[in-house]
Amino acid sequence: MATLNEKKTCSERMADFRRFVWNPETKLFMGRSLINWVWISLYYLAFYVVMSGLFALSIYCLMRTINPYEPDYQDQLKSPGVTLRPDVYGDRGLRIYYNVSDNKTWEGLVTTLHTFLTAYTPAAQHLNINCTNNTYFIQDTFDGPNNTKLSCKFTSDMLQNCSGITDPTFGYPEGKPCFIIKMNRIIKFYPGNGTAPRVNCTYVGEEESGPLDADYYPGNGTFSLHYFPYYGKKAQPSYSNPLVAVKFLNITRNVEFKIVCKVIGAGITFNVHDPYEGKVEFKLKIED
Ligand SMILES: *[C@@H]1O[C@H](CO)[C@@H](O)[C@H](O)[C@H]1NC(C)=O
Ligand SMILES: *[C@@H]1O[C@H](CO)[C@@H](O)[C@H](O)[C@H]1NC(C)=O
Ligand SMILES: *[C@@H]1O[C@H](CO)[C@@H](O)[C@H](O)[C@H]1NC(C)=O
Ligand SMILES: *[C@@H]1O[C@H](CO)[C@@H](O)[C@H](O)[C@H]1NC(C)=O
Ligand SMILES: *[C@@H]1O[C@H](CO)[C@@H](O)[C@H](O)[C@H]1NC(C)=O
Ligand SMILES: *[C@@H]1O[C@H](CO)[C@@H](O)[C@H](O)[C@H]1NC(C)=O
Ligand SMILES: *[C@@H]1O[C@H](CO)[C@@H](O)[C@H](O)[C@H]1NC(C)=O
Ligand SMILES: *[C@@H]1O[C@H](CO)[C@@H](O)[C@H](O)[C@H]1NC(C)=O
Ligand SMILES: *[C@@H]1O[C@H](CO)[C@@H](O)[C@H](O)[C@H]1NC(C)=O
Ligand SMILES: *[C@@H]1O[C@H](CO)[C@@H](O)[C@H](O)[C@H]1NC(C)=O
Repeated sequence: MATLNEKKTCSERMADFRRFVWNPETKLFMGRSLINWVWISLYYLAFYVVMSGLFALSIYCLMRTINPYEPDYQDQLKSPGVTLRPDVYGDRGLRIYYNVSDNKTWEGLVTTLHTFLTAYTPAAQHLNINCTNNTYFIQDTFDGPNNTKLSCKFTSDMLQNCSGITDPTFGYPEGKPCFIIKMNRIIKFYPGNGTAPRVNCTYVGEEESGPLDADYYPGNGTFSLHYFPYYGKKAQPSYSNPLVAVKFLNITRNVEFKIVCKVIGAGITFNVHDPYEGKVEFKLKIED
């Protein structure tokens, strides 16, 4: 082997290298005999066949244990997130400001609500069944079409005065705006322990603002129990989250209020560090 401090010309180096690749005297190819190379190739071939086999076997075993109907790992202690429509964000969280006298400031909010409710038209819900009994809709079998479970209908007309049907402007120009509250789905979650969870909105901070005057739809602002539990996207492809709408009836004009809408029920918890866990907080200012 040539040492580093030996001075060699370029052609000498090339000759050395050629001799290393194929040495005619010793009949060594890259420093090994041909039969040696064949054995090494066979060894690695066998090695990779065995390794690929082990890999395929482990993937196969993993796939066998996965239930396609629900994720394997999910945080069972999790409380559902709550979202609000219309959803306009300011610097810090949801901030809905509009001017009743300026229709350009609220038309976008109304459009957001109409767009959101297109998933709740009778046509969009036609695969779902009518449910009325307000008890958990527990399904151990797959009674729906194509090996699925049934889902209950939720149509926008259930939101009555906040459905956008009787009042297409959702009360925005009258200063009595509707907001829609949605609870995110959690697989096999039974909220409320037998009592339908209810939405309650209150002012935050200012004590002098008193109780918040609001109407809740449907009923008393409850999420009926027949929408629970949710069995997952594959089992219930046509499932849609139930909604609660709240219509604020007497918001003082030109003052910013901080409002929190909580979903109250057993199993629904709140976290001071998460403004959207079990509740939704937002700022509202109605100008004129
Ligand atoms: C609301 O809109 C009206 C009409 O455009 C305007 O006169 C009024 O100043 C606006 N109010 C506020 C608080 O900006
Ligand atoms: C806003 O209201 C005015 C007066 O009511 C109306 O003329 C105008 O067309 C409305 N703007 C839009 C974008 O609808
Ligand atoms: C479900 O209820 C709607 C309205 O209440 C009714 O028109 C429809 O026929 C009902 N569907 C079934 C399958 O009962
Ligand atoms: C509730 O309704 C579902 C579907 O309509 C039905 O299968 C179930 O038996 C009902 N439960 C009770 C307690 O009535
Ligand atoms: C069931 O599956 C078939 C084929 O994938 C599809 O054509 C049909 O529309 C499905 N039925 C329902 C009710 O989803
Ligand atoms: C809907 O609004 C109308 C008019 O503001 C009111 O008379 C009625 O009581 C409201 N309906 C409900 C269910 O609150
Ligand atoms: C659920 O309610 C039942 C009685 O209705 C009660 O015995 C049970 O402790 C409750 N469970 C939880 C987790 O609150
Ligand atoms: C909503 O919560 C407030 C404060 O916790 C309470 O005073 C009020 O009675 C609740 N409203 C309803 C309808 O339960
Ligand atoms: C609302 O709650 C009250 C008292 O809890 C009850 O009497 C009423 O029937 C409820 N209304 C609906 C539509 O569930
Ligand atoms: C609306 O709220 C104000 C104070 O915020 C109160 O003085 C007024 O009586 C309320 N109006 C109605 C109809 O409740």
